[in-house]
Amino acid sequence: MKQKIAVTREVFQEVLDHLAEHFDVTHNQADEVYSPDRLAHLLRDKAGVLTTIADRVDQALLSHCAQLKVVCNIAVGYNNIDLPACTRHGVMATNTPGVLDATTADFAFALMLAAARRVPEAEASLRAGEWQRWKLKQFLGVDVNGATLGIIGMGRIGQAVARRARGFDMRVVYHNRQPLDAATEATCNAIYMDMPDLLKQADFVVLLVPYSTATHHLIGAEALARMKKSGILINVARGGVVDDAALVAALKNGTIAAAGLDVFENEPRLNPAFLLLKNVVLTPHIASSSVATRKRMAMTAADNLITALTGGTPANLLNPDALKFVRK
Ligand code: GLV
Repeated sequence: MKQKIAVTREVFQEVLDHLAEHFDVTHNQADEVYSPDRLAHLLRDKAGVLTTIADRVDQALLSHCAQLKVVCNIAVGYNNIDLPACTRHGVMATNTPGVLDATTADFAFALMLAAARRVPEAEASLRAGEWQRWKLKQFLGVDVNGATLGIIGMGRIGQAVARRARGFDMRVVYHNRQPLDAATEATCNAIYMDMPDLLKQADFVVLLVPYSTATHHLIGAEALARMKKSGILINVARGGVVDDAALVAALKNGTIAAAGLDVFENEPRLNPAFLLLKNVVLTPHIASSSVATRKRMAMTAADNLITALTGGTPANLLNPDALKFVRK
């Protein structure tokens, strides 16, 4: 008999076909959002599950999932998964690193350019029929080219952003838990700095740290006050890394000039004050959303799941200690 697995949200059909070669698959192509209770009910008899960042996998859920051996997140970030709880329950957890770096780095530039050159504001004005004549001073923005780019979180995606900055003749400074080794630093053409210096010097501050208790509200009123008044903040990391209420105040008061945000606290119910501000570009957590990359992410998650349930060690296992407890 095939093992039972579930996919919590809509995925590409080829991903379901791939999984169905090995498993009895319960899918959710209607893309309903499951409550914690419904998710617990769904997973009570499943050996594996493909989750998204919208699914909370914690002690409360795992206590209902006696058969569960593996949780495969379709994302590089995994702050929706309580890893120690998974390990205690003998449940492997995986993510999808590496396959979305370039696409996400591209999007950091999309937000930088959109915010600096006021693209959404200008487009909205044109669509509203407000374009009467060419004007020298219309929608004046600031240049991305030649500016100083400050990257906070210099993992794979941060490095991909830094490499792209070369084409824009930018000076790149970065902050990370550990400075990069000299060779990687050279390929990124980037200079290590502590956070206060980076915030003071950067024209664009791009956030690429994972969310954790250590990075909660890393950018709050104090950090925003250290930025240039002309500074632009870009968040393609996670909601919660920025204190959104403090950012709203900083955008209103002119503490910083603008922001480009793909992620929010309590998303999708973002702080409504953002919607009233013209100096912020808002997108619905789509930095990795190209057809090719989202397919690669879902397929990577599926491959992790297949490996885990056919006796192997998945390539992107996050909690190797779980192997000691994995249920037979
Ligand atoms: C998206 O936010 C991801 O973590 O992959």
